[in-house]
Amino acid sequence: MLASPINPADINVIQGTYPTLPPLPAVGGNEGVGEVLEVGRRVTALKPGDRVILAVNNLGTWRTQGVFPEEALLPVPSDVPVLCAATLSVNPCTAFRMLADFERLAPGDSVIQNAANSGVGQAVIQIAKASGIKTINVVRDRADLPKLVERLVALGADHVITEEMLRKPEMKDIFKDTPKPRLALNCVGGKSTTEMLRHLQPKGTMVTYGGMAKQPVTVPVRAFIFQDVRLRGFWMSQWRKDHAQDRDSVSSMMDALFQLIRRGQLSTPACTPVPLQDYRAALENSMKPFTSSKQILLL
Ligand SMILES: NC(=O)c1ccc[n+]([C@@H]2O[C@H](COP(=O)([O-])OP(=O)(O)OC[C@H]3O[C@@H](n4cnc5c(N)ncnc54)[C@H](OP(=O)(O)O)[C@@H]3O)[C@@H](O)[C@H]2O)c1
Repeated sequence: MLASPINPADINVIQGTYPTLPPLPAVGGNEGVGEVLEVGRRVTALKPGDRVILAVNNLGTWRTQGVFPEEALLPVPSDVPVLCAATLSVNPCTAFRMLADFERLAPGDSVIQNAANSGVGQAVIQIAKASGIKTINVVRDRADLPKLVERLVALGADHVITEEMLRKPEMKDIFKDTPKPRLALNCVGGKSTTEMLRHLQPKGTMVTYGGMAKQPVTVPVRAFIFQDVRLRGFWMSQWRKDHAQDRDSVSSMMDALFQLIRRGQLSTPACTPVPLQDYRAALENSMKPFTSSKQILLL
């Protein structure tokens, strides 16, 4: 293995709160890039020197070496930068699927999302931008907000607002040049979600994929009765299980992401590479709020 990030779900696995837990003893980490050193006699799709990412969950990626079945690995073109490949199979894939599978979005449509500075959020901004879809991006207020806004705008964000702003009448200004969103992507829960939902188009869809605030989703009754909103959930692990035999869907998604990377439309998320021996500090930093930087273990 060459590099592997620390994602919130990895922490939940260690805490024992994630829905799927590996049998112990286990290696942590669920995403990363490696280089093939040797292959078995019957392996046909991979050869030594190939870069690969893991396509199956719970195999453990915070390691220097491993033996994996051929079907668990996806080849990555050698021109994809290492840190970009290391962070590709979870967050950009999740962003790609959520933008593709719930609403038929056309150029000019809009999407609203909270935790817009997360790994998934940054991928949503860039993939949407590449398809001509506008994004309204909600983040938590912080001391260095202008810097964060600048960074997300540079990625392609059309609007970046704070959670407090969602409740303000000035929200109307956004909708002068941007249509109301057909799709809302919820990574947070609690108040953030309730307020975000108010701006969804009638019959629009909200997809919940994360629960960073550790609070339930509360939906105003009027959103159901008068707006007929649809509430859905998404879990990339389940999508991978459901499409384990569907190599075409997997490869067309990966090819689309590789194209975006090559065209400079999908970049590595803001990150801090950390040598493996400093894993304790990396784990601690990954749990700190307002850091906006993914810890990536260099293996
Ligand atoms: N369902 C799926 O298939 C799937 C796939 C990928 C990821 N996820 C989930 O998506 C979430 C984000 O993952 P990631 O790797 O993109 O995360 P990440 O890059 O580590 O970013 C975490 C994000 O959560 C925000 N956050 C943390 N605590 C919060 C709170 N109490 N209230 C509001 N926002 C808070 C952070 O904002 P600040 O900067 O304000 O701290 C940041 O935007 C995680 O819950 C992860 O498990 C789900």
